[in-house]
Amino acid sequence: MMTQLTVNLAERSYPIFIGVDLLKQTEQLLLPYIGGRQLMIVTNERIAPLYLELLVAALSATGQVQQIDTLILPDGESYKNLATLNEIFTALLEKKHHRSTTLLALGGGVIGDLTGFAAATYQRGVAFIQMPTSLLAQVDSSVGGKTGVNHLLGKNMMGAFYQPASVVIDLMMLQTLPKRELAAGLAEVIKYGLIYDQGFFEWIESSVDALLALDRNCLMQAVQRACEIKATIVASDERESGLRAILNFGHTFGHAIEGAMGYGTYLHGEAVAIGMCLATQLSIKQYGLAPEWLARLTALLKKIGLPTTAPKSMSMDHWLQWMQIDKKNLDKKLRLVLLKSCGRATVTDSFEGVYLHEVLAAASS
Ligand code: NAD
Ligand code: GLY
Repeated sequence: MMTQLTVNLAERSYPIFIGVDLLKQTEQLLLPYIGGRQLMIVTNERIAPLYLELLVAALSATGQVQQIDTLILPDGESYKNLATLNEIFTALLEKKHHRSTTLLALGGGVIGDLTGFAAATYQRGVAFIQMPTSLLAQVDSSVGGKTGVNHLLGKNMMGAFYQPASVVIDLMMLQTLPKRELAAGLAEVIKYGLIYDQGFFEWIESSVDALLALDRNCLMQAVQRACEIKATIVASDERESGLRAILNFGHTFGHAIEGAMGYGTYLHGEAVAIGMCLATQLSIKQYGLAPEWLARLTALLKKIGLPTTAPKSMSMDHWLQWMQIDKKNLDKKLRLVLLKSCGRATVTDSFEGVYLHEVLAAASS
């Protein structure tokens, strides 16, 4: 069971392989994308005992990679920072990795974003492979080339656009993913339906039980459709000068919650779930979006066990302070992703401030 998609970016195009038990196809799926003779696999303490040995054994068995090093980082969003990035550089230098080396990220979005940024900058850029292990990373962060780290004053504030050479998504790895993390990943899957494909949103509504039960066919369909949508959007706007910003639906509110509450308190997908509810409320006021969509979204998120209301400790000052440091903002103007209808998103800075104020005031009360 395997399917292949392509992210079409001219000379930087790359494949996304999605399937089951892909570690058994290392020779075909990984070797062609390992640039030279050196490889550094970056992972974390939770994932290493599950998959690292298998991956190293599979690669070693090919006899084609002369030097395979591994780096096991601490687990968690709070480690997605410059200090951890420097640990990757130190490991690469200590093991004498040259410019022809390849970095392989084996992990969720935190490992993928950190490793990608290291690959973008180590000796001005080395090859990079994504092997995402969380649902969120499989449907979102491993595709599209956004890499980076957090600053205490703002989420993902340092980073680079740097595309991987390939993305290998093994759905079997989701078997070991904690249920809370699975739910957080589903928030990003739902996002694609809301911003781009009403039919997909409705399919998720009808398939949610099967998805939560890790039904293989449903997972395959969900991951494939999410990656297709992301690949299409990225191919048309790699550096987010326009359309790509719609992928940030719910994220301005979500990033504010993540930062204000302390990275790791709310999972990224949980914060995005709340953010999507707030952005949908604003869309109803601003564009007359049918209120039905807020009810359906809230019901779906609740079924998955995701939060739908913001933490009460978020004051209006918190919201405004954190939302002002969003990367979408231009010329000090807040830009938000809103829905004109289910499946049709728009990025705008010309919403009524009073509507935003009403939504945030209701969220904080
Ligand atoms: P994460 O990387 O922290 O992974 C979630 C948790 O699940 C971690 O504890 C991890 O160790 C564990 N885990 C992962 N795979 C596992 C598996 N197969 N079995 C058992 N445990 C497993 O978080 P995430 O939700 O994957 O990613 C969130 C991060 O991704 C955030 O930093 C967010 O900003 C970033 N992100 C980036 C992009 C992008 O385009 N680059 C897009 C969306 C999100
Ligand atoms: N996750 C937002 C993006 O990749 O653009």
